[in-house]
Amino acid sequence: MSDWARQRFRAVLPEGDFDGVKLDVVPTADEQFGDYQCNAAMAVAKRVRLPPREVAQRLLADGALPDGVARAEIAGPGFINFHLDDAALARRLEAMQADPRIGVPTPGEGRTVILDYSSPNIAKPMHIGHIRSTVIGNALDRLHRYLGYRVIADNHLGDWGTQFGILILGYRRFLDADALAADPIAELERLYVKSYERSKEDEAWLNEARAELVKLQQGDAENLALWRRFVELSLGEFEKIYRRLDVRFDLHRGESFYNAQLPGVIERLRALGLAEESEGALVVKLDEENLPLCIVRKSDGGFNYTTTDLATVISRAEEFAPDAVIYVTDERQQLHFKQFFAVARRMGISTRLVHVWFGLMRLPEGTFSTRQGNVIKLERLLDEAEARALAIVKESSPGMDDAQQREVARAVGIGAVKYADLSQNPQSLVTFTWDKALALDGNSAPYLQYAHARIASVRDKYAEQFPGRDFRDAPIVLTEPVEKRLARRLVRFPGVVDRAAHAYKPNMLCEYLFDLAQIYSTFYQTVPFLKAEDDVRESRVRLCDLTARVLRQGLALLGIETPERI
Ligand code: ARG
Repeated sequence: MSDWARQRFRAVLPEGDFDGVKLDVVPTADEQFGDYQCNAAMAVAKRVRLPPREVAQRLLADGALPDGVARAEIAGPGFINFHLDDAALARRLEAMQADPRIGVPTPGEGRTVILDYSSPNIAKPMHIGHIRSTVIGNALDRLHRYLGYRVIADNHLGDWGTQFGILILGYRRFLDADALAADPIAELERLYVKSYERSKEDEAWLNEARAELVKLQQGDAENLALWRRFVELSLGEFEKIYRRLDVRFDLHRGESFYNAQLPGVIERLRALGLAEESEGALVVKLDEENLPLCIVRKSDGGFNYTTTDLATVISRAEEFAPDAVIYVTDERQQLHFKQFFAVARRMGISTRLVHVWFGLMRLPEGTFSTRQGNVIKLERLLDEAEARALAIVKESSPGMDDAQQREVARAVGIGAVKYADLSQNPQSLVTFTWDKALALDGNSAPYLQYAHARIASVRDKYAEQFPGRDFRDAPIVLTEPVEKRLARRLVRFPGVVDRAAHAYKPNMLCEYLFDLAQIYSTFYQTVPFLKAEDDVRESRVRLCDLTARVLRQGLALLGIETPERI
């Protein structure tokens, strides 16, 4: 419908300049204003110096309407409300049903996006920021892949830097081999902290740590081997979490991968006349962008996070020619990305660069380690989620065998944790609570998984009671008001997937799915299904089947499984 509006505005106002004006048609938030609305007449009116209502009237002149729309009216200062035609809607739903992709197009075909997410630091536990990045980044990954993009998921590990001098020294002096075997990341962290504290009060220790770092940077075989060990041990631990969350990366290129390219970045900045000396450091001034100056080489000659990100984006642009690079991190890195993007632009990188940031989430007591405020024991959180989900499953499906109960509880528990994260506006501060995450009657994964299982079972009952019949053989007919409402929600699915991906907001998809499940539930309670007369029954089972498929696909795009039974 947006395409119709764009063409129509140009046709009826050929002189108009609509650059930068949003000519979209969007679903209405409130059904009493029709099914879709276009609010562009006001902005267009300014460009063409006509009253907005006049613009709206021209758009609709001679009975012009988008496909599938029965009527349209102009409201208030110039809002245009569209009402779908029921018969056309039914045909559209039938087409969605016949399509394995349920009507979702592939606008990303031929385009590449690089998704830089999760990206924890070696020898340290993942903190809540990395976990949210993992869950949100993975949903964006799935959404983009589904829309046809070639996605390169790259885990940009923090695997290089001055901390390795301190860690190597700590490892040489304080290692507890048993502790390392039991919990590698915890032991590496302990070694780091112990060595770091010592370096603060002991000058000789600090110098030794520096010497270890220099040796590592110069490629000393022993230190390199140690560093590799740290990386492997940490990655092994991270992998456990990724496996449980069903997260897969195409690349694991940590910061170290770009090490050799850092001096080249500095040379290029100098050659372009972008960098200057300031108090011994090399900086890029970003006055034009209204940003603080950006350090690209520290006064001790070392490179920093920005230098590495510059080298990384240059390398990515050359190797993959992506249409966009999307970075997912917590809100504390906003300034870093603004500065780094500004410098990259000036260096001639024209790839679209996007920073998707989110607020930090507050977690239940006890998932925080005591010493470091927001370091969470994710494994424990997931264990607890599965245990709590198991209690729910045992209650709802006492007859299910034990192994199956556990398998369902895994899907429900992990789903609950992911959904609690994804369903929030990423940029708001949220508190995680078990009650909300596992609520069977609220906006949660278990609620949607349960709804899906129940809806899908209608299909099975139909097959049982009407063997030899195929519900797809009868056309979809929309008669009851609640049936029409459900149909109108279903048909929005492809647009929601597109908007959620392109706005980088998985929560838009969550809202949609929750809303759909609620409307379905009213539908299910209000109209007869299997007891309805021939053909009406089939039409309703078709809506039911479509609802189940949309829920299943929608949840899959969020990385959430839908067990057949709960
Ligand atoms: N390792 C970083 C951190 O823990 C996140 C990296 C994000 N990606 C990037 N290209 N800067 O803060």
